[in-house]
Amino acid sequence: MTLEEKVGQLSMAAGGYAVTGPLLGGDVTADIRAGRVGSLLNLWGAEVISAVQKMAIEETRLGIPLLVGFDVLHGHRTIFPIPLAEAAAFDAALWAATARASAAEAAQDGISLVFAPMLDVARDPRWGRIAEGAGEDPLVAAEFGKAKVFGFQGANLEEPGAVAATVKHFCAYGAALAGRDYASVDISERTLHEAYLPPFAATVAAGCAAVMPAFMDLAGIPMTAHRPLLRGWLRGKQRFDGVIISDYNALAELMRHGVAADLVDAAALALIAGVDIDMMSGAYHKGLPRAVAEGRVSMEEIDASVRRVLTLKQRLGLFDAACRQRKVETPSPAPGPLAREAARRAIVLLTNKGALPLPSSLEKISVIGPLADARREMDGPWAAAGDREKPVAILEGLAATLPDVEIRFAAGVGIEGEDDSGIIGALELCRDADVIVLCVGEAAAMSGEAASRADLGLPGRQTELAKAALDLGKPVVALLSSGRPLTVPWLFERAAAVLATWFLGVEAGNAIADVLTGRFNPVGRLPVTWPRAVGQIPIFLGPRPTGRPFAPNDSYTSKYLDVSVRPQFYFGHGLSYSCFAISDLRAKSQSFRFDETVEFTAEIVNEGPQSGEATVFLFARDVLASIARPLLELKGFAKIALCAGEKGLVYFSLAARELSFPGADSQPCFEPGAFEFSAGFSAEPEALVTIRLEALP
Ligand code: IFM
Repeated sequence: MTLEEKVGQLSMAAGGYAVTGPLLGGDVTADIRAGRVGSLLNLWGAEVISAVQKMAIEETRLGIPLLVGFDVLHGHRTIFPIPLAEAAAFDAALWAATARASAAEAAQDGISLVFAPMLDVARDPRWGRIAEGAGEDPLVAAEFGKAKVFGFQGANLEEPGAVAATVKHFCAYGAALAGRDYASVDISERTLHEAYLPPFAATVAAGCAAVMPAFMDLAGIPMTAHRPLLRGWLRGKQRFDGVIISDYNALAELMRHGVAADLVDAAALALIAGVDIDMMSGAYHKGLPRAVAEGRVSMEEIDASVRRVLTLKQRLGLFDAACRQRKVETPSPAPGPLAREAARRAIVLLTNKGALPLPSSLEKISVIGPLADARREMDGPWAAAGDREKPVAILEGLAATLPDVEIRFAAGVGIEGEDDSGIIGALELCRDADVIVLCVGEAAAMSGEAASRADLGLPGRQTELAKAALDLGKPVVALLSSGRPLTVPWLFERAAAVLATWFLGVEAGNAIADVLTGRFNPVGRLPVTWPRAVGQIPIFLGPRPTGRPFAPNDSYTSKYLDVSVRPQFYFGHGLSYSCFAISDLRAKSQSFRFDETVEFTAEIVNEGPQSGEATVFLFARDVLASIARPLLELKGFAKIALCAGEKGLVYFSLAARELSFPGADSQPCFEPGAFEFSAGFSAEPEALVTIRLEALP
């Protein structure tokens, strides 16, 4: 291969529209024919992709097929709930099933590589990209990531319907300063190893094909040029031998970070750091040949990157015409029913003062609020190939599920904007209703990339509409459509019930109706701590203890003068129409050693009137250690389905090595001594059952 052909294999161009702006000028097809492009993004459709593949195979000197990547973040054609919502199901089999269905649709469309899953632990809901990941906890992100990698890739990348997964954004992107997207991140080495790296370690061990470095800098080193973490930790320590693909234009942005003077510098920095594919910046094209000529980059390094790219193409079967043309079967369950199941499992019943499930005696419902008929918003961010007209709106779902109930609708206000002239009409419609369903929240574009918010209340004039509806004194069931927790304490206090309905995808309206009517008993649990006020952020499960923990009658303790230290809802919170109790947490033995597994059971009783599913969390606390350890660390989650009045046991099995923590030198260390283990339905400390065990040397 000539150097130009090698650089071609390391360059990704945009086939269709550009996400952050058109950056690679000129005719992409001319570049493909000239062998200057090894991969494409933002192109889908079997016919068009087979045409460009034909071009690459038949019209270039080497005949190398293209890698075609796309953001299949929560569905391809069939859009599933946003990842944050899907995480609320705490169901690894479901996470894998939706990835499998998305992979099949993407593969049918000629796509071989997906830029998913997103593994960024996110503890700041101002950051819009919190919607794209599994929430605040490293264990949940790791389990979610492994399930997704397995769902996308299957057992073998050559299987029809398998696509290569790209775990992103490596790493700590979720800790952006003040929740502002793309902003610098500065966290301790310990927090990096404890909270942000584990999901990447877990998915690399699970065989993910590709990794995407994040846009931002970590303590001054942009991730695109972060040699210690990319070459050192990822390739060296984790033995990652897949492909590292930059984010969009990130190489050229090294100049804006102030670490590269020009594209030659940028290309040299990124390649030396370990980046194999340059997405859209043109830096490898324009800079690598000179970097080689000047001796800043060796041909061996370029060859190693090219080899990794070609190996991935080979693993995907792209060199094999028969393999490329194989028909992809639609997996079972089919995407439609799976989308409804995923959506209803994602809904979190946050409060319920007895208003839900809706009684069958209902005659009139007034549905108000701008999200009620907003089908185009239901998919949420990153639903690029989804048909925005396809989702079932909330209003439609209710009408289909309750054909004998009179349903009236008025939006009242827009999602954003200052026009409140519709409020009076909407209230008029509510006067003789048995119940008001208030559909409020965010537009899809208010979360996702470059969609940070400083105020997490309801946008536009929705607060006025909601408060006026609450003032009518009728039961108000509020549905929050959003990509993040919203700080609306007054709504939680006054509404008869509030549900987090996130962005649920194509089956949104049907799934919501299933839950409101009690056809489906809610199972969703919060994968993030829900703050009361923006000033509490970052707020998450298990911070480290302070020497002065909050005590109500002692002023020199850790607190706010104006807001409680408690969140609105703890991590794991979520109600059901059943009522569960937990007791009798036991371990098989009272002590354990580093290389042993600790087995736990806890007894769960369904004390409610109907069958339901409980999610139980296991937490650990290292009571006395050389370094202050978090008050609670999530170590497992389990689900149990119980009929009314039924009792059952949940089981947890914990490898004691998981109790290690980054020691003074960031290396894992395990210290003998007392550990507390707690189990419960959320991280609310008072509701946990706890036992103490001894770790032996
Ligand atoms: O995959 C995405 C990434 O998450 C953000 N920037 C653009 C990429 C490709 O679309």
